[in-house]
Amino acid sequence: MKIVNFTKKHLKSAVETYCKAFNRPPQNDNWSKKTATKRFEDLFNSAGYFGLAAIENNQIVGVMTGRIEQWYDKKEYYLAEFAVHPDFQNKKIGSKLLEELEKRLKKKTVQQIYLLATVKDKMPTAFYKKNDYNIDKTIVVLSKSI
Ligand SMILES: CC(C)(COP(=O)(O)OP(=O)(O)OC[C@H]1O[C@@H](n2cnc3c(N)ncnc32)[C@H](O)[C@@H]1OP(=O)(O)O)[C@@H](O)C(=O)NCCC(=O)NCCS
Repeated sequence: MKIVNFTKKHLKSAVETYCKAFNRPPQNDNWSKKTATKRFEDLFNSAGYFGLAAIENNQIVGVMTGRIEQWYDKKEYYLAEFAVHPDFQNKKIGSKLLEELEKRLKKKTVQQIYLLATVKDKMPTAFYKKNDYNIDKTIVVLSKSI
C-alpha cells in the first residue's frame, strides 16, 4: 500500500471506493457515481485543496480530501471526505492516512485538523478518538432546512 497526493487521475477509482464505503451501514447513504464525482470535483476546485489516496494494485483503497483554510491566527485543514473501501477496512489504512495527512500538513505549517461526523453512528467517533481527535466543546454546528 502506498500513499500519494489525491489527484483527478484517481477520481474514478476513488468514487467507487467512496460509494461502497458510505452506501452501507452505519451511514446507509445513497451516493451515485454522479453525485460522488461532483462532490470530489467541487473539493478539487476549492482554494487550498489537499487530499491523499491510498493505493493497492492500482486501486484506490482509501481516500481523504479537503482544504486548507486561513484563520486569523493559524491555518486549519478541513477534512471533508474520508473513506476506506469496505474490503480493506480494519487494516489500519485509515489510521495510516490520518498519520500521513498530519505529517504532510505540518510541513505546510497547518496547525489543526477538523471534521464533521454524525453522532448517530458511534463508529466514526470511536475511530477518530482512537486517533487522538477530541469532540470540540467550543463549537456547535447549526443548520436550517430551507
Ligand atoms: C472510518 C474509516 C475511514 C476507518 O478506516 P479503517 O482503515 O477501517 O480504520 P483502521 O483500520 O485504521 O482503524 C480501525 C479502528 O477503527 C474502528 N473501526 C474502523 N472501521 C470500523 C467498522 N466498520 N466498525 C467498527 N469499528 C470500526 C475500530 O475500532 C478499529 O479499532 P481497533 O484497531 O482497535 O480494532 C472506515 O471504516 C470507513 O471508510 N468507514 C465508512 C466511511 C466513514 O465512516 N468515513 C468517516 C466519516 S466521518
